[in-house]
Amino acid sequence: MSSSSSRITGFYRMPPTERRRKLLELAALPAEGFAAFDPGALTLEIADGMIENVIGVYALPFGVAVNFTIDGIDTLVPMAIEEPSVVAASSNAARMVRPGGFSTVVSAPVMIGQIQVTDLADVDAAASILRAHAAELLEDARRLVPRLAERGGGPIALDVRPLARSGPDGGVLVVHLHIDCRDAMGANLVNTLCEALATKVADLADGRPGLRILSNLTDGRTVTVRCSIDDALLASDAVTGADVRAAIAAASRFAELDPYRAATHNKGIMNGVDAVLVATGQDWRAVEAGAHAFAARTGAYRPLAVWRERAHGLEGELVMPMAVGTVGGALHVHPGARLALDLAGAHTADRLAAVAGAAGLATNLAALRALATEGIQRGHMALHARRLARAAGATGELLDRVADELAATGDVKADRAREVLARLCSPHMVKDAP
Ligand code: MEV
Repeated sequence: MSSSSSRITGFYRMPPTERRRKLLELAALPAEGFAAFDPGALTLEIADGMIENVIGVYALPFGVAVNFTIDGIDTLVPMAIEEPSVVAASSNAARMVRPGGFSTVVSAPVMIGQIQVTDLADVDAAASILRAHAAELLEDARRLVPRLAERGGGPIALDVRPLARSGPDGGVLVVHLHIDCRDAMGANLVNTLCEALATKVADLADGRPGLRILSNLTDGRTVTVRCSIDDALLASDAVTGADVRAAIAAASRFAELDPYRAATHNKGIMNGVDAVLVATGQDWRAVEAGAHAFAARTGAYRPLAVWRERAHGLEGELVMPMAVGTVGGALHVHPGARLALDLAGAHTADRLAAVAGAAGLATNLAALRALATEGIQRGHMALHARRLARAAGATGELLDRVADELAATGDVKADRAREVLARLCSPHMVKDAP
């Protein structure tokens, strides 16, 4: 984004129209503003061209998480998600991280294509032949994508992995074609190259061509995100920063010890990651599949992010596969996804990976901090109280007062919200008000 700051005080208190006005002021957005998020922006005609048997267009709330600085750049983080609290929680976590910001390292955008070969009499001999022809096969693949090669991408390596010496499919091996996809997610590109090479690969190996498809375990295309928070910023009303720090580090160790906890820990990360991916029109199922396979790559399912104590503070690190693209896919046709990329200032796959990864580390931090202190229900209740107060008709300062009273009494119900609002609006209250 080209805003001076992503730190927008009171953003969550503004009505949506005011938030839009504020963002238009801050970010360099197209003249049409937010029309791409309005009903009807994704027309039935466009939708019908995207998938099959279309009967409508399905909406989700679209929010913006604030306070993020990622690699020194203030960033608005677009999120499309149905779950309450995620946008607020990530904005809060980003505020804590803000002094040092999130720093990221994004690997080269290398995807893996798999060509399976079955019915091999001698897998080791077949593997040797294929390895001897690796350079030639790579050259064949490169010739198929000259324009990608001109942009610095294309097939970069080929290796062979024997999988079985015998069995129902005979000897089996798989050829991995490593392809630098630049700013594309690359699924079509990778699948096309695998299909094009499969017959030659199988002939050379003297076997039968099996599946030819990308692998979603994109361990050659990862994002690493780090952040560091001082104790003072971790403290809550009731718990000291040092205690919060120790509790978050202990929660991280719990996830490192137990796959049942690690799954929930990682779910908290995917809350942020997926919300960004959905908003920006990415194949979030691919990233989900890759994330969980990566989490289990050592044979035990592990957390994607870990937290460690340091002197007077906490350090977090997330490493995960992140196969995303800023060209191709749904982006050609989906106006909201394109606008989301503009909002985030993410015009390269690298930057989008950094933003999605930072969102994941932020939602993880927010969840662990809440779990380590008051539990997550109190925060959920406060947000729910606000929703009920708004639904009861409260606006402005009254909205805060109704929501605060509901949350304070713990009686967070719609009829209670109406009662409190009626009482606060009564002439008696107005007369007695200071
Ligand atoms: C809820 O969507 C996510 C959490 O369960 C994550 C966690 O437990 O770390 C709060």
